[in-house]
Amino acid sequence: MAQSLLRPGTLSSPVRRGTVRGTYFVQTWGCQMNEEDSEQIGLYLEELGFVPAANPQEAHVVLLNTCSVRKKPEDKAFSFLGELRAFKAARPEMVIGVAGCMAQLRADEIKHRNPFVDFVVGTAQVSAIPGLVEEALQSRRFAKRTDLPERKGSVVTDIPQRNVSRTAKLKAFVPIQYGCDKFCTFCIVPTTRGRERSRPTEDIVQEVRRLAEIGTQEVTLLGQTVNSYGKNLAEGRVPFSKLLRLIAGVPGIRRVRYTSPYPRDFKADVIEAIRDVPQVMEHCHMPLQAGHDGLLARMKRLYTVESYAQIVADLRAEVPNVGLTTDIIVGFPGETDEEFQHTLDVMERFRFDGAFMFKYSPRPGTPAATMEQIDKQVASDRLDKLIKTQQRIQCEINEGLVGREFEVLVEGPTPKNPNLMQGYSRCFRMLHFPAPADFRGELVTVKVTEPHLWGLVGTVV
Ligand code: 5AD
Repeated sequence: MAQSLLRPGTLSSPVRRGTVRGTYFVQTWGCQMNEEDSEQIGLYLEELGFVPAANPQEAHVVLLNTCSVRKKPEDKAFSFLGELRAFKAARPEMVIGVAGCMAQLRADEIKHRNPFVDFVVGTAQVSAIPGLVEEALQSRRFAKRTDLPERKGSVVTDIPQRNVSRTAKLKAFVPIQYGCDKFCTFCIVPTTRGRERSRPTEDIVQEVRRLAEIGTQEVTLLGQTVNSYGKNLAEGRVPFSKLLRLIAGVPGIRRVRYTSPYPRDFKADVIEAIRDVPQVMEHCHMPLQAGHDGLLARMKRLYTVESYAQIVADLRAEVPNVGLTTDIIVGFPGETDEEFQHTLDVMERFRFDGAFMFKYSPRPGTPAATMEQIDKQVASDRLDKLIKTQQRIQCEINEGLVGREFEVLVEGPTPKNPNLMQGYSRCFRMLHFPAPADFRGELVTVKVTEPHLWGLVGTVV
């Protein structure tokens, strides 16, 4: 299997042909959807004749792919633009574009604060980027392209064009759905990415087939609420569990993952697919957000702690080795000590294998931003407490795994030690183990010898 990845010729897509016109640099913040969009941006720029630059200073074209989910990534993007100002002053021919969620949301402000920016492009216009770069190279007039397609009636027609001339990779992200219809009160995503639109099933399957042909073994299906996939397709409803089975059936695809499912829509058919289809991994990243029904109601999450608990119980009953991870927000408006204590209790009760934990960040324009905010220090202290609790639980879980064996897809050397290889188990635990470099792309069985907070160390058996 490993050889097929490196098969000569698999990289000879149109992308690499022709004369080199210059270099590009894409800086990415945010979620996997943004990472995937950045890969698309790279493909488009390579088709125009640009090759990757080592850093933004020397690049001819610099793209910022921004995130608005919290204030921090927005601040980072503005400070990055501040640095670019000097580079552009020194080399006025540099083209600078801003893409992603902050571009969608704050296009005019970005231009106003940074007049040297050549174009701002929204989340649904990634395929317009090659045209915008050409325009910037020729005319030097500012351009803004931030149209967001609305869903017309119940059927989707406006799906972003995709560049599928992708390069050979062991693991790939594949978007299956754009936008979000859930409107959680804390979340800016429905505004930045628009209404929920599902990609036609056949397009997804074709893209995965093509990925498998060039050596991809693992795909992660992406969407804001992936398991509501297929509701508004012209060809009629295709349930997420059916899509999982179709993707799992693509020859060469050994592992299928997905992120993130929405708890209320997590039904028995998906659990059965995880249980019954060997290529569908036993991992579920299911954002809980809070451990108290009052908080969940104020967040407009459409489930309760007990209905979430029922899904966890069903999943663990059918798939005993499932890895369960989650997202939690602390310091949501009005969060009382008692409500927060419920969240801590729920962490002890569900014992997640991993959690992303965030301090609530008010997003202008969302309902929660106008609710009464809580003290910032209280929120920080709660976040610390939550993180400590979850870290203790994770250490306990990992200590219990010494001696256990996991199937791991070998991805390559660890960043710190080139003699150790790394990869994920089916249930999404990170493992480090000594192995030769040509094990890359192989499925191996690793026996755990050492538990850590971040994952496990072991030996290949
Ligand atoms: N503040 C803090 N965290 C947020 N998230 C989404 N919006 C906010 C916000 N305003 C978190 C949620 C979501 C994850 C991707 O980011 O936990 O699941």
